[in-house]
Amino acid sequence: LFLPERVNSKGFDLRDVPTLEEMDAARDPWRTASWAAAPIIAGEAQPETPEPVTNPYLDTDSPGSVAHASPGDVQTALDAARPWQAPAGDRAAVLNKVADLYEENFGPLFAIIAREAGKTPLDAVAELREAVDFLRYYAANAPDAPPAGVFSCISPWNFPLAIFTGQVSAALAAGNAVLAKPADQTPLIAHEAVKLMHEAGVPREALQFLPGAGSVVGAAITSDPRVNGVAFTGSTATAQRIRTAMAENLTPGAPLIAETGGINAMIVDSTALPEQAVQAIVESAFQSAGQRCSALRCLYVQEDIVGDFLDMLTGAMKELRLGDPWHVSTDAGPVIDSAAQSEIAAHIAQAQADGRVIYQTSTPQTGSFIAPTLIRVGGIEDLDKEIFGPVLHVATFRAEELDTVIDTINGTGYGLTFGLQTRIDDRVQHVADRIHAGNIYVNRNQIGAIVGSQPFGGEGLSGTGPKAGGPHYLARFTAPERKGASG
Ligand code: NAD
Ligand code: ALA
Repeated sequence: LFLPERVNSKGFDLRDVPTLEEMDAARDPWRTASWAAAPIIAGEAQPETPEPVTNPYLDTDSPGSVAHASPGDVQTALDAARPWQAPAGDRAAVLNKVADLYEENFGPLFAIIAREAGKTPLDAVAELREAVDFLRYYAANAPDAPPAGVFSCISPWNFPLAIFTGQVSAALAAGNAVLAKPADQTPLIAHEAVKLMHEAGVPREALQFLPGAGSVVGAAITSDPRVNGVAFTGSTATAQRIRTAMAENLTPGAPLIAETGGINAMIVDSTALPEQAVQAIVESAFQSAGQRCSALRCLYVQEDIVGDFLDMLTGAMKELRLGDPWHVSTDAGPVIDSAAQSEIAAHIAQAQADGRVIYQTSTPQTGSFIAPTLIRVGGIEDLDKEIFGPVLHVATFRAEELDTVIDTINGTGYGLTFGLQTRIDDRVQHVADRIHAGNIYVNRNQIGAIVGSQPFGGEGLSGTGPKAGGPHYLARFTAPERKGASG
């Protein structure tokens, strides 16, 4: 009899009324609460003056404030950083305890995610599940090998709990000293996470928290020779900057694990089940307001079916509810801030001027919303960058052009997720053998990889590997094997 040692988190079934009542009861006390994030270092912090954290749905709400780490705090943290000396089994026990604390504290965590990141309850559940899964997966696989040393972990705002936790827990499972820098927009949830990690027993010297701007704190902890490795998730442009800083300042060979952006495609051929494909497309392109690295950006529909198919797709888009991310019936909240809103709106405005907007829903009057939009393109080559919001570009292809479409998708240089909707079995293998993408999804949506079952990560411009939540990830956080060692 095979009994797995680790199981993935069950999460919350939001269709179940008692579960919803339980969620509301746990979140409601935190609806107007205020949090204060600040550096947590092994020494006395002397942070910058606190600044308000914004709520992307509501100008009049501030979920709290953040005091950035000063240059002196970064130096103190670098001096104080010490690898976590405990045996692998003890580290694992503490990380499992962190997972328990996350689950016990879902009320405030969900409240912060809604108010700081504009995430819906569905997204909040996914965040918590993934974070807990990362903790338990890396705990179950904590290596005995020596740690790399000091690891800087730098995360994005779009998975402010899950990715923050994934990087930090992997580095800790391997016994490193971690310098954790959250995204500029989402320090509050990361601050809560670090407090729970310390409460569970992670030593302060092994985990220090340095909120601050990427160009200041991020740059400092990727260019100091005392740092032995960097785990980064964010844009491809920032990853390239970090690679340069590391090459100039860190020991040669210091690992950079970079998980970056994508211009992700899906191909729908004329044999696809339309209802299934439409549901997969709506989830992949518009859930989380399109702010997933995995999100679908460019849809290829076979020419023979495109008319009826787009009618079904726009019909489904009409049903999407945009609004207050606190409410369980909201399908998509706002984008992260007004800067992101302006950038995406400018892209849509250009398409409007060119007469290429096929369809756009409407948005609420307040908050940094972008209406889910369909834009016609000739092909994925028309997209010169990742548009990080609820905008889906649509191209058509003829049956005989399938291989050319695959080459064009590969030609972007990105390779994160890819979706295929078809009922031709041979075509699945044919396409999967040719497409360059870290995660390929067939006849389903292309978001929401499950830790342990679907290791996640891209190739080319989308990332260095190894994949997060997979068997090769933790090895990159350990010291390289000494030359000449035998065993
Ligand atoms: P970003 O690159 O702007 O910022 C990411 C992090 O890097 C932030 O913490 C930021 O403060 C920091 N940073 C910025 N400049 C820095 C510098 N010079 N040195 C060190 N750190 C610096 O990305 P974002 O806008 O926060 O996130 C969205 C991007 O992340 C998208 O491109 C998305 O595709 C990508 N992403 C990728 C994955 C993945 O697993 N592949 C997952 C989530 C998000
Ligand atoms: N792991 C996240 C997803 O698969 C990025 O959507």
